[in-house]
Amino acid sequence: MIKLTNVSKSFQTKNGVVEAVKNVNIHVKAGEIHGVIGYSGAGKSTLIRCVNLLENPSEGNVYIDGEETTHLPLKDLRHTRQNIGMIFQGFNLLKTATVYDNIMIPLRLSGLRKSEAEKRVRKYIEIVGLAGREDSYPSQLSGGQKQRVAIARALSQEPSVLLSDEATSALDPETTDSILDLLLKINEELGITILLITHEMNVVQKICDHVYVMEDGEIIEQGPTIDLFTKPENPTTQMFLNTISQRKISDELLAELTDAGTVIRLTFVGSATGEPLLASITEKFSARPNILSANIIELKNGIVGNIVVHLDGNRSKNTDVLQYLQQEGVLVEELSHIQ
Ligand SMILES: Nc1ncnc2c1ncn2[C@@H]1O[C@H](COP(=O)(O)OP(=O)(O)O)[C@@H](O)[C@H]1O
Ligand SMILES: [Mg+2]
Repeated sequence: MIKLTNVSKSFQTKNGVVEAVKNVNIHVKAGEIHGVIGYSGAGKSTLIRCVNLLENPSEGNVYIDGEETTHLPLKDLRHTRQNIGMIFQGFNLLKTATVYDNIMIPLRLSGLRKSEAEKRVRKYIEIVGLAGREDSYPSQLSGGQKQRVAIARALSQEPSVLLSDEATSALDPETTDSILDLLLKINEELGITILLITHEMNVVQKICDHVYVMEDGEIIEQGPTIDLFTKPENPTTQMFLNTISQRKISDELLAELTDAGTVIRLTFVGSATGEPLLASITEKFSARPNILSANIIELKNGIVGNIVVHLDGNRSKNTDVLQYLQQEGVLVEELSHIQ
């Protein structure tokens, strides 16, 4: 498990103090995958460097598997570092070494016996799907394959936690998906706890149990992924969500709606469709819902459906409809009202 309590990190620069991380609290329970999302400069890399002990936090504590790491004596530091695997956007492979040696060399440097190291190299090359490519050099591999080597290298130390700093940011969408599938597989099969940072909402969508949104060094919103995708409160969270599904209805489209009525967004959690409910409001209230947009977002732990509809008719009738929909467990938001 990974736990950060009130972690802050500031840097002294020529132009004064930069507070890169401010009072951050994170708790990734063993076996979970948590994601920190934020724009460039939000403080994500600094935060993760405080977790992997490359930076010492200015304030606060970092725990890995229950052990407080920021005050460890030097001799324990190496052992704890081995318990933390790390992957990066730029892969950080040795260009002049083969796939095999890129994994083998760090293992030998850490003092592992040759026979044991050979076993591990073979095991993790197999797990990441690179069997047969042992003798290739990084320049002969695609971006996705290079990241697989980096993942095998991180896993070969047999860490209990894996940290990822934008590991898929240099990859095309299809390769990103295949690397995310690999991270899910190692999380499930090896039980590795993962903390990743990203600026891409689809990464969070696909593999995270819990999300933290970071801005100006602070966590401005956090929660189970399904909650953030259902009820994003902070404007920055909403902007990130707009990259997955456009939540706003354009002014042009609204201007075209001339019939009196209400434009509402319905959010369904767990059920793949809202159609039966729309049929039943027609039956019960003679409402005439006109669907303006609809989409379904598949998350790691569930499905969120969004439908934006125009309901014709006057406000008091529509109020009854909205109440009914809410009673049925649908999240209802009024987007605009046309007189
Ligand atoms: N070693 C450093 N010295 C001074 N400022 C730094 C240092 N590392 C990061 N920063 C500053 O901290 C802020 C957060 O940077 P970073 O953690 O790299 O953000 P992100 O990874 O979210 O893009 C930026 O303003 C950056 O300039
Ligand atoms: Mg960064």
